[in-house]
Amino acid sequence: MIPLSVPNLAGNEWQYVKECLDTSWVSSVGSFVNRMEEVSAEFSGVNKAVATSNGTAALHISLLLAGVQQGDMVILPNITFVAPANAITYVGANPLLIDVYEDTWELDVELLELFLDEECIISNGACRHKISGKRIPAIVPVHVLGNMVNMDKLMPLMAKYHIQVIEDATESLGTTYKGKPAGSFGVFGCLSYNGNKIITTGGGGMILTNNEQLAKEAKHLTTQAKADPLEYYHDQVGYNYRMVNILAAMGVAQMEQLPGFIQRKREIAEMYNAGLKNIPGFRAQQTTEHVTANCWLYTGVFNKSNELMHFLTAKDIQTRPFWVPMNRLPAFALDTYYTKNDIAGKVYSTCLSLPCSTNISDDEVNFVIENIKEFYA
Ligand SMILES: Cc1ncc(COP(=O)(O)O)c(C=O)c1O
Repeated sequence: MIPLSVPNLAGNEWQYVKECLDTSWVSSVGSFVNRMEEVSAEFSGVNKAVATSNGTAALHISLLLAGVQQGDMVILPNITFVAPANAITYVGANPLLIDVYEDTWELDVELLELFLDEECIISNGACRHKISGKRIPAIVPVHVLGNMVNMDKLMPLMAKYHIQVIEDATESLGTTYKGKPAGSFGVFGCLSYNGNKIITTGGGGMILTNNEQLAKEAKHLTTQAKADPLEYYHDQVGYNYRMVNILAAMGVAQMEQLPGFIQRKREIAEMYNAGLKNIPGFRAQQTTEHVTANCWLYTGVFNKSNELMHFLTAKDIQTRPFWVPMNRLPAFALDTYYTKNDIAGKVYSTCLSLPCSTNISDDEVNFVIENIKEFYA
């Protein structure tokens, strides 16, 4: 079978994990955790990085530290994996869903501006939704599938409305906007290292920030808020969200290979773009202007995408449909969804992701292309 996107563990993973086993440093502290935090901060161009047990935990802690509270609204694109919507509910807030652009599938910043101008006010230094009176203290712009949101438009708009930016950069490690890395624009940026991401630790995440005080608080909250090095004194409700050393060891080895992985993902995307360009109705995800994408998960719009998915499955080629938009999930169906034409609904029903593991061979990519051509022939 040609899988969709699987780990590539061809580097120093065994050696570094063995080092943990040999020394018994397998748990939640250790030199690899520190190294993983250091290399991650350096790679993403931020001052500090705090390792977490997964990307959802990174989002949860970031929302808490951004001061999001019970009864607030947090802006989120309607097209996203569900994790940030869940994290928003963990802090008692609701997602405020905004539709996406038809070509890039990223949050539509012009539509967001219209919403803020028409339906929100600034009162006592906080943005509020006029109808519900709810505070809107934060946004989670999700950089979808390795692309990025238009940051030149987003950042000044958020500053104008006093809305803090927590970037969900879980799919965009290595992507840049005008040369600046995804995850380095907001007060926080969150990464994920789950199994299908561009690098993996099996499960893991990272909080990126330029604010050293917030980094300290993030570390504190992810370690059960233990406030004394010896005594078991905890000064608030904390969380057991630490990354363990054994997984950080994998992460350090993966980070060493990241530039090569990004290069390979880009080559795969170019092969698909060239091979599929004459397929009627086919359109690959467009990259936002000024973005250099990591091309994490190659995805396109296809005619009869569902039939194509079944056809490819029968040929042992694993593909994946797009996420069901948040407004169609029972947990978020009653939340505000601002849209003019429900682009998210349209995109969702026509998209398919194709195999693009960094260790896929050129022959396998060509095999996928040939089978797609056969389907349309
Ligand atoms: C957009 C997005 N946000 C958040 C997450 C959550 O990351 P994790 O699975 O590490 O909790 C993921 C990946 O799984 C994701 O794709």
